[in-house]
Amino acid sequence: MKITVLGCGAIGRILIHALSVRGHQIQGWTKRSEKILKIKIVQVKNLNRIEFPVYANRRNFLKNTQLLIVTLKAHQVKKAIRSIQMFLGKECVILLLHNGIGTEEELHKINTNNPILIGNTTHSAYRKKETVFHIRKGVTTIGSTKKFNKKKFSLILKVLEEAIPIVKWSKRIHFSNWLKLSANCIINPLTTLKRCKNGKIKKYRETISLLCRELTMIMNLEGHKVKEEYLSKYVYEVIEKTKRNYSSMLQDFLNGKKTEIDYLNGYVIKRCKIHRINLPTNNFLYKEIKKIEK
Ligand code: NAP
Ligand code: PAF
Repeated sequence: MKITVLGCGAIGRILIHALSVRGHQIQGWTKRSEKILKIKIVQVKNLNRIEFPVYANRRNFLKNTQLLIVTLKAHQVKKAIRSIQMFLGKECVILLLHNGIGTEEELHKINTNNPILIGNTTHSAYRKKETVFHIRKGVTTIGSTKKFNKKKFSLILKVLEEAIPIVKWSKRIHFSNWLKLSANCIINPLTTLKRCKNGKIKKYRETISLLCRELTMIMNLEGHKVKEEYLSKYVYEVIEKTKRNYSSMLQDFLNGKKTEIDYLNGYVIKRCKIHRINLPTNNFLYKEIKKIEK
């Protein structure tokens, strides 16, 4: 399959490698105009070092690309897609694979008519200069934003499954993304404000419980039926599984990069305005992150 990966950071480079190994035609798309990208990956578990070159930024390739995998930070998506959408074929499927919610609406606003898949992943990686450290393999869940069934995208699902197992198809991908969003709305700002690893926030039980109540409320208003106990159990499971990690928000903050807060707690605030409700704990976290981000 002909695949372009838009956003060649930690997750993007892992995908480029995994898909190249499977024999697919791959290119990376970056902010710069280099025609070759040097990929360096360290698989932390087995200390495997991988180094290879990959094509980049070729417009002709983009025209025939069958799948565009978008592994940008949420706030980078709209601008990046706007700058290449004229080169994309009509049938090219766009897969948005990032934390946070809100980019799907943004793509509709800029009249992206390509079929869109959305998803989330629990792979864990970070980039130091030119090297990506792949810390933990994870599960990737994808689904269609429209009521297309799995069959239409079965080839894409197979390609991804072979490259980065486990990949699951979700009929309720918006629910899945909201659940992930809820965990990120709790773990990311708390770890950033407290400058701690994910596991350390377990002691803020009261705050976590208030946030779970608020997030359950907005999820149900959005039509994603969920019980507070279920959401809370899920959040604590994510905290436990990632207890030794520094969250992506804390890493962005410490590296002087813009965080994804507008697509996490900020997105929740936008939806609350539509439903005319106020979620004070979520608002508080949003404001505190905005303050330190300045
Ligand atoms: P990242 O390392 O920052 O990768 C994003 C890349 O896109 C960067 O190399 C960035 O370049 C580039 N970029 C920015 N604007 C661009 C543009 N207009 N055109 C082309 N490239 C552009 O982020 P990541 O860690 O891979 O994460 C990607 C998404 O996956 C995020 O939403 C993150 O929350 C989510 N996620 C990450 C992990 C993880 O472990 N890393 C796990 C689960 C989910 P510059 O850096 O030069 O701006
Ligand atoms: O954004 C992150 O850091 C991750 O999505 C998560 C699950 C909070 C683990 O660190």
